[in-house]
Amino acid sequence: MIKNTYTAVVRLVLYIIFYFLFLTPAVVFADKKSCTDCHDSIEKEKVMHPAVQFGCSVCHIAPHAKKTPELSLVMKPPDLCFMCHDKKVFTEKDKHVPVAEGKCTTCHSPHSSRNTYLLLKKPPSLCFTCHDKKVFTEKDKHVPVAEGKCTTCHSPHSSRNTYLLLKKPPSLCFTCHGKKVFTEKYKHVPVAEGKCTTCHSPHSSRNTYLLLKKPPDLCFTCHGNGILSQKVKHPPAEEGKCLTCHNPHSSNYFMMMKKPVNELCTACHKAESSGRHVLAEYGTGNIHPVQGKINPAQTDEPLTCISCHNPHSSSRQLLFPNQQGASHNLCLMCHTKVHVPLN
Ligand code: HEC
Ligand code: HEC
Ligand code: HEC
Ligand code: HEC
Ligand code: HEC
Ligand code: HEC
Ligand code: HEC
Ligand code: HEC
Ligand code: HEC
Ligand code: HEC
Ligand code: HEC
Ligand code: HEC
Ligand code: HEC
Repeated sequence: MIKNTYTAVVRLVLYIIFYFLFLTPAVVFADKKSCTDCHDSIEKEKVMHPAVQFGCSVCHIAPHAKKTPELSLVMKPPDLCFMCHDKKVFTEKDKHVPVAEGKCTTCHSPHSSRNTYLLLKKPPSLCFTCHDKKVFTEKDKHVPVAEGKCTTCHSPHSSRNTYLLLKKPPSLCFTCHGKKVFTEKYKHVPVAEGKCTTCHSPHSSRNTYLLLKKPPDLCFTCHGNGILSQKVKHPPAEEGKCLTCHNPHSSNYFMMMKKPVNELCTACHKAESSGRHVLAEYGTGNIHPVQGKINPAQTDEPLTCISCHNPHSSSRQLLFPNQQGASHNLCLMCHTKVHVPLN
């Protein structure tokens, strides 16, 4: 990038003075027009490199002298280009390999082009000349990728961030995606750490939502499938419908639940919503609390459906908790004495 055109012009003027004072080869005076008489393709395309307006000899010296190497260039790219273009953008910590190798002209015409930025091809085709197209063209494509806007996320030249990224995720992602769903009270650790790409491809995927794997396998890559290892399995968990209960990013409810636990459970289990079912065995018709109390077995937590049922799997019938050393009797987990007949 030219820091500003002023600097570029100053450099150019100094350069030309230097030329006139010390070198003055005949070619400097050669008329650009005389060159383009024969080399008419140079200025043919719509997008012109302003440098060409300054004359061919800004970059070429003594052409046609067959001994002259490298197309008789004053100096080789990238230094040739750095005469006028600020080196800094091309020399940040993470450098694109062709840039580091000085191959500016694998992507740009030094003269003119039909494409903006003097590009030989438009992205993404330009990028696909060296990068395997496949990763960018799986079934589910990220919109900016499908539109070929590689440079909304990557510098083509160099960056202070890895992968030539203009910004690091998650900030990169938040330039287009609202922050809200990622920043609610209970945040999923990989989300809080900005590791969006542990779950999503930034480019394309065979899975919906650009997921690297489908849930539950996606979840099991970090959590293992231990939660489903017990004999009695809860069907929605067993079927991998983790996201009927959990948000993948963050939530205002603990454990990243989609809703308060009891609301979730009773959406599928209406009949059990009152708590009448807890005492059904005892034929009293009484209602046992299922919320609004503290769980005596875990005094820092409220009493909810999961005080008595494991949401994933359990070794005990009806998903009763796998309480360590607990009595086989559920009731004794919380009550030392119960005023209803026990079996
Ligand atoms: C891998 C292909 C590639 C290489 C190699 C490359 N460029 Fe670029 N360059 C691009 C693309 C793509 C753009 C357009 C960026 C955009 O869309 O914002 C660009 C834009 C530019 C621009 C104008 C906009 C800006 O960012 O300043 C200049 C000047 C430029 N390149 C110079 C160079 C120079 C000098 C080199 C060698 C040191 C070089 N390029 C190497 C792909 C490349
Ligand atoms: C009478 C026609 C003609 C004119 C005028 C002309 N050229 Fe050429 N130029 C050629 C031909 C023919 C070639 C060889 C083309 C090839 O090998 O593909 C060539 C090759 C080149 C090359 C690449 C090879 C090398 O030796 O460096 C450059 C650069 C070049 N010319 C620059 C210029 C410049 C700058 C001017 C103006 C000062 C100019 N030419 C004027 C016909 C011309
Ligand atoms: C900004 C520097 C610059 C200017 C100005 C410039 N050239 Fe070049 N030119 C180059 C570079 C760099 C190459 C090598 C391209 C490559 O590596 O593919 C080149 C290659 C060439 C070639 C050989 C390959 C080709 O593209 O045909 C010709 C001929 C040529 N230039 C002619 C000219 C003429 C004529 C002018 C003036 C109208 C001119 N150039 C102005 C940088 C420049
Ligand atoms: C003699 C000075 C000079 C040299 C040498 C030079 N450029 Fe430029 N270049 C300019 C100027 C002036 C502009 C227009 C400034 C701007 O757009 O900010 C420009 C613009 C560009 C652009 C952007 C075009 C656009 O449409 O925005 C690209 C890409 C570019 N140059 C690439 C190169 C490459 C690659 C080289 C080396 C092969 C090079 N330049 C060498 C002066 C030069
Ligand atoms: C001339 C060949 C070439 C072109 C064209 C090219 N690249 Fe590259 N790119 C490479 C090479 C070589 C590497 C390093 C090896 C690798 O990771 O594949 C690389 C690496 C990368 C990386 C990873 C950088 C890192 O730090 O790990 C990104 C991102 C990238 N390129 C993006 C692009 C984009 C975007 C385009 C199109 C604007 C593009 N490339 C065009 C050759 C190219
Ligand atoms: C929405 C932002 C975004 C867009 C658009 C985008 N990328 Fe990327 N790209 C990334 C991120 C983020 C990474 C780092 C992935 C990681 O952390 O594993 C990356 C990594 C890469 C890499 C290196 C690692 C790899 O997967 O090979 C290449 C090469 C690359 N991108 C090329 C491209 C090309 C070519 C395009 C356009 C077709 C493009 N990118 C469009 C965000 C993007
Ligand atoms: C340049 C803008 C832009 C950036 C940057 C961006 N995205 Fe997107 N993304 C979009 C658009 C547009 C859509 C489609 C509309 C929507 O769902 O919001 C989309 C959709 C998605 C989708 C849903 C895809 C689907 O199939 O429904 C995911 C997942 C996604 N982006 C993840 C990311 C991640 C992760 C990052 C950061 C690495 C990121 N995006 C950066 C623009 C962007
Ligand atoms: C633990 C894995 C995981 C991480 C980490 C992750 N996501 Fe997602 N993301 C998902 C899953 C799973 C879905 C699909 C949700 C669904 O099916 O309703 C999704 C959906 C999306 C969607 C589309 C639907 C929506 O909610 O808008 C976007 C956009 C998105 N993620 C962006 C991001 C961004 C940005 C980050 C990093 C801040 C990120 N994701 C981190 C797993 C993850
Ligand atoms: C990239 C690794 C990774 C992936 C993939 C992943 N998680 Fe996590 N998850 C973690 C980490 C790390 C924690 C923090 C607690 C821990 O270490 O177990 C966590 C915690 C959780 C928690 C507890 C939240 C809390 O507030 O304590 C739930 C629930 C959860 N993940 C569900 C899921 C679901 C559902 C999926 C699949 C959609 C998934 N995770 C995929 C890494 C991951
Ligand atoms: C029926 C709703 C529901 C489904 C379906 C569900 N979960 Fe959970 N999950 C919960 C609840 C409720 C908790 C809180 C448990 C607790 O605090 O004892 C939880 C806790 C977790 C935790 C953190 C604590 C722990 O037990 O390790 C992880 C990780 C987790 N779930 C992952 C998953 C994965 C992966 C899936 C899909 C295979 C899944 N969940 C399916 C409701 C569900
Ligand atoms: C998406 C619907 C859905 C949600 C949400 C759901 N369940 Fe279930 N649950 C089922 C299905 C289907 C069964 C299989 C038996 C049936 O049809 O009732 C089942 C069975 C059960 C059983 C009996 C297990 C057995 O061995 O017979 C219990 C206990 C249970 N669920 C508790 C819960 C709790 C607690 C929650 C909230 C954390 C919950 N469920 C959320 C669908 C759901
Ligand atoms: C205090 C402990 C306790 C709480 C809290 C509790 N349950 Fe139960 N649940 C039980 C007992 C005990 C049974 C067995 C009842 C029986 O013998 O029929 C049971 C049975 C069930 C069954 C299986 C019913 C059948 O007939 O197969 C479901 C489904 C269920 N509960 C869902 C829930 C839901 C949803 C909640 C939260 C609204 C909840 N439970 C809260 C103790 C509890
Ligand atoms: C997870 C802990 C827990 C389990 C397990 C549990 N209870 Fe309770 N139970 C409570 C709490 C909390 C209360 C409310 C105490 C209060 O009002 O302060 C309660 C209250 C009761 C009451 C009084 C109801 C009323 O209307 O006042 C009865 C009766 C009762 N439980 C019976 C049982 C029986 C029978 C079982 C086994 C099927 C059982 N409980 C299992 C926690 C539990």
